[in-house]
Amino acid sequence: MTADELRKKYLNFFEGKEHAVIPSFSLIPENDPTALFINSGMQPLVPYLMGEKHPKGRRLVSIQKCIRTVDIDEVGDATHHTFFEMLGNWSLGDPFESDGIGRAGYFKREAIKWSWEFLIDPKWLGLDRNRMAVSVFAGDKDAPFDEEAYDTWKDIFKDNELPETRIAKLPKENNWWGPAGETGPCGSDTEMFYWVGDPKEVPKSFNDDNDLWVEIWNNVFMQYTKKADGTFEKLAQQNVDTGMGLERVLAALNGIDDSYKTELFWPIIEKIEDLSGKKYGSSEIITKAMRVVADHIKAAVFMVADGVEPSNTERGYILRRLIRRAVRQGHMLGIKENFTIEIAKIVQSIYAEAYSEVTDNKVIEETSKEEKRFRNTLEKGLKVIEKMFPTGFKILRKDEIPPRTTDVDTEKAFYVFQTHGFPLEMIQEELQCRELTVNEGEFDKLFKKHQELSRTASAGMFKGGLADTKEKTTQLHTAAHLMLAGLRKVLGGHVHQRGSNINGERIRFDFSHPEKMTEDQIKAVEDHVNEAIQAKVDVESKEMDLSEAKEQGAEGAFDSKYGDKVKVYDIGDYSKEICGGPHVKNTGDIKGTFKITKEKSSSAGVRRVKAQIKY
Ligand code: SER
Repeated sequence: MTADELRKKYLNFFEGKEHAVIPSFSLIPENDPTALFINSGMQPLVPYLMGEKHPKGRRLVSIQKCIRTVDIDEVGDATHHTFFEMLGNWSLGDPFESDGIGRAGYFKREAIKWSWEFLIDPKWLGLDRNRMAVSVFAGDKDAPFDEEAYDTWKDIFKDNELPETRIAKLPKENNWWGPAGETGPCGSDTEMFYWVGDPKEVPKSFNDDNDLWVEIWNNVFMQYTKKADGTFEKLAQQNVDTGMGLERVLAALNGIDDSYKTELFWPIIEKIEDLSGKKYGSSEIITKAMRVVADHIKAAVFMVADGVEPSNTERGYILRRLIRRAVRQGHMLGIKENFTIEIAKIVQSIYAEAYSEVTDNKVIEETSKEEKRFRNTLEKGLKVIEKMFPTGFKILRKDEIPPRTTDVDTEKAFYVFQTHGFPLEMIQEELQCRELTVNEGEFDKLFKKHQELSRTASAGMFKGGLADTKEKTTQLHTAAHLMLAGLRKVLGGHVHQRGSNINGERIRFDFSHPEKMTEDQIKAVEDHVNEAIQAKVDVESKEMDLSEAKEQGAEGAFDSKYGDKVKVYDIGDYSKEICGGPHVKNTGDIKGTFKITKEKSSSAGVRRVKAQIKY
């Protein structure tokens, strides 16, 4: 099945269920200052989910262009994309009352039944029912177990002779969606998964940790709104908001376990193979680099088409980062000439019919201008890095987590940033495979000092973005200390930090632990952090000998990197850890609630969590 057939089938199916088709909105939100990009089909519909009347009635269907950047470090696997299309259908409000033009809304039972019909009926997608699993919300203090969704699935699974064990009951972390921004409509959801592994070996039950179960559709039952103080309030109306990722479903339909091998990516990959003389799939590093180039340039094309220009702040900064990261990965693949034009042209040809805006001339102009600006910098910067940080260390795969990392001289790293305009994240990427790392706290301090000294720093090209996120990053850094202490308290003393990456939006944190955390354990760690936040404890630091720090029981996973004198950060009874800072002065400065949003395996014996402060 082609992408176009899939798009048409989806719209036709829901038109047949009396939905009105609405066109995709621009990627740039119109009235939502809390969001940089549209990240879901429901986002532009928020006013209608909250109760306003939509001129086309209660039942809508659309295909919406989306950009998601929080997961950017997951790009490179087989299923995560920065740009994607979301197929979605909605019921706005009352299941029992007509909208005045002949269409009543609907709720859980209908939404689920239609999803199943569309996925399985040979008239529509005809997916293999035996490879399906679903999950529903298990219930917690904010909302009850979703019995109606569960029972609906139970009936469907029984009719289809599928085991009930393929219906998982999972917590909020898995089965709750929204709000799209910091506040707004949200609710429990039910998710549908397709087994992309060997069809003869479909497991009896769904397992969140197994990447061969790919989420293909999400039905959200939006009955709540999240308020600024973090509490949930029941909405006056019961909405349905569904979202199905076009790229993933297209792969599943064509029996492919890698969405980069579908028509929406493959011509781009072929072009990259051509330009680089390397083969997709020949090594993990090459595959990942090719995916990143394809993903990032595609997203860049759509952003420029909707009016974003590369710059140092907000949307422009994200666009700049995407193009530069693509250029960097292209360079690693051995492509020396300006190549983004070539890739952008392929993206244009793939999407010209469905989204004519991508054919605008400015797409090519802006992308190639940004590449040229960066290419000089890149080559010089890489040479400097090679000279400054000679290896002599083991070269790891890009995706491998170093068991131990050593801090480099921050001044040196800052020099590369300042003189060569090399973004910190790229310096980190370069250093990681040498088992080296920049201490981001120290780096931030230098950055601040430098900013005070010179407001016109010529090479501080990323400072807008850094400055904007600096405060949030510091809060998250302190939260990361509290979390590590919480993990050690809840799971045991075998837990040590194995890697960490913090930006203004989230903490990504790897630690040693052999098995999946339970829901209760996650909750207990969150409680440890939130208790510390509420207790408003001063964060104190003291310099001491390494031996003394150890005696005091300070945590520090990377002792090899420390000199004799270390700084120990003390947060009351909540944490004691060796670190370079910076941290908030008092835990009360962390404004919001700490939440672990994801927990999964990272490599053997190492777990990875993501966490955020929800405001
Ligand atoms: N809002 C939900 C999602 O993005 C369903 O559309 O997954």
